[in-house]
Amino acid sequence: MAAAISAGCGRVNSGKRIVRIALGQSESHPEYLGLAAFKEHVEKELGDKYEVQVFPNEILGAAQKAIELTQTGAIDFVVAGTANLETFAPVYEIFSMPYLFDSTEVYRRVMGDEVMMNGIYESTDKAGFRVLTWYNAGTRNFYAKKPVRTPEDLKGMKIRVQQSPASVKMMQAFGAAASPMSFGEVYTAIQQGVIDGAENNELALTNNKHGEVAKYFTYNMHQMVPDMLVGNLKFLESLTAEELKVFREAARISTEVELEEWDRQVKEARETAARDMGVEFLEADVEAFKEKVLGLHREMLEDNPDIEPVYQAIQRVNEEMKERSKEESKEKAGLRLSPGQAARYALEPKPRSGAEAGLAVNRNPWWITEEGSDGEWME
Ligand code: GCU
Repeated sequence: MAAAISAGCGRVNSGKRIVRIALGQSESHPEYLGLAAFKEHVEKELGDKYEVQVFPNEILGAAQKAIELTQTGAIDFVVAGTANLETFAPVYEIFSMPYLFDSTEVYRRVMGDEVMMNGIYESTDKAGFRVLTWYNAGTRNFYAKKPVRTPEDLKGMKIRVQQSPASVKMMQAFGAAASPMSFGEVYTAIQQGVIDGAENNELALTNNKHGEVAKYFTYNMHQMVPDMLVGNLKFLESLTAEELKVFREAARISTEVELEEWDRQVKEARETAARDMGVEFLEADVEAFKEKVLGLHREMLEDNPDIEPVYQAIQRVNEEMKERSKEESKEKAGLRLSPGQAARYALEPKPRSGAEAGLAVNRNPWWITEEGSDGEWME
């Protein structure tokens, strides 16, 4: 690590300012590809002044260490999961709350809400850093050496969690023993039997090879914890308005690339893990897992008032999306014409025959189901 930092010592290389980014993931991970796009954009626009260097695989240290380096300005950016940011800025605890988002749609909508997210991003200014953008790190699930089908199966198991107080509490509520450690230590810890398993997204199985040592992955879906591109605040403030605009645009592009890559790679990881690593994917009774930890919502809100407004805002999105999907399923469930619609439909010119109109003759208009008449009225 020291070598990697002193390699760029003086921070200026042929007159250019070196911008260093620490990443825990490997060169094939969606985040690395996102950061490659970040680098490309910054250097295309400001290449005479800045050179961006990305250090993957925890070369600059595990998350906690790399965040400290970013805080002090020894490096300029780090990609870190919000669980690792909690101890620096309590508002990030919100993302560790289990079953916070009702669905991935809610999650993406909240993360894409710039007004809400900027409030969170700027709240870390007093800690010396500011978040520029987020990356998808999927949904977190248990994986272990033995199958976990119900919360009862977790009894007596030792499960790795991220180094965050909320993650420890969550694991205890699930009924397992929590073993906090950095991400890079997980493979060996499972292999050597120091822990029985961990919890993470599908890419941990393939990209980080955990599927070699843990063969059962349970879709209990307890968290959606994003990763953040965190910048040293002094560095960001040292940029001119024009430069800052370029860095912000680069961040936006990096997220776009990452999100698209994420969806593609998760599918691929699932296939690879099952086919080449012999990992078994288990469906779980999600409600049973939820029941164990839902009490934490109240507890966490009482302990940390910083998260209350964000929590309420997310609940509103949960509600809104629930309403919307109810509406959609009503439409799908089959609706027949209300008297008003029937009258309007009767007035519309009709093709004399299906063949003449070039249409399939038996196709109903969208508001009439194949089955016909037992739907509800719709205006
Ligand atoms: C994911 C996430 C990382 C995080 C890791 C972990 O891989 O992307 O940011 O550090 O999980 O569980 O520690």
